[in-house]
Amino acid sequence: MLKIVKDNKPSLRMKCSPVTLPLDSANEKLILEMVDYLKKSQDQEYAQKHEIREGVGLAAPQVGVNKRMLVIYYPTTTESGEAKIICHALINPTIISASVKKVYLKSGEGCLSVDKIHDGYVYRNYKIIVQAYDAIKKQDVMIVAREYEAIVLQHEIDHLNGILFYDHIDSNDPFRVLENSVGI
Ligand code: NI
Repeated sequence: MLKIVKDNKPSLRMKCSPVTLPLDSANEKLILEMVDYLKKSQDQEYAQKHEIREGVGLAAPQVGVNKRMLVIYYPTTTESGEAKIICHALINPTIISASVKKVYLKSGEGCLSVDKIHDGYVYRNYKIIVQAYDAIKKQDVMIVAREYEAIVLQHEIDHLNGILFYDHIDSNDPFRVLENSVGI
């Protein structure tokens, strides 16, 4: 099973290198293992047995590989109430557009690499457009994400640049509410 790198390791603070496409088999295997890790982390019985925390996103540097790869996996419901899985396995993701409007999680963010709780709001762009190669869809993708999905994507892309969620918290006023922002 993949081992999670914690935030005391300097490698988590490094900028990751781009991945060469077409994807080689080692990188493909790794990114699929990362998706599998998230799925299993959401299985309570498995997670308890293996003492792993539940996660919805994971970036390659968190499993010891400093390359621009990330995965996101979580169940949700569509506006019409149908069950749906959000799943991305992204290589070299780039944010090509971001709204001025911000969004934040009222409960704050967490991270599999961070065991300590860091209270405070992390402001993210409310809507982003991300371009990447998706290793599951096996094609270039353009993702339009809002709210929670946009938050998770920005959290994971930050990892590729050595940034952790608590870097964004205003230590002088951690719960300051910004104008033009929504809490979810
Ligand atoms: Ni994280």
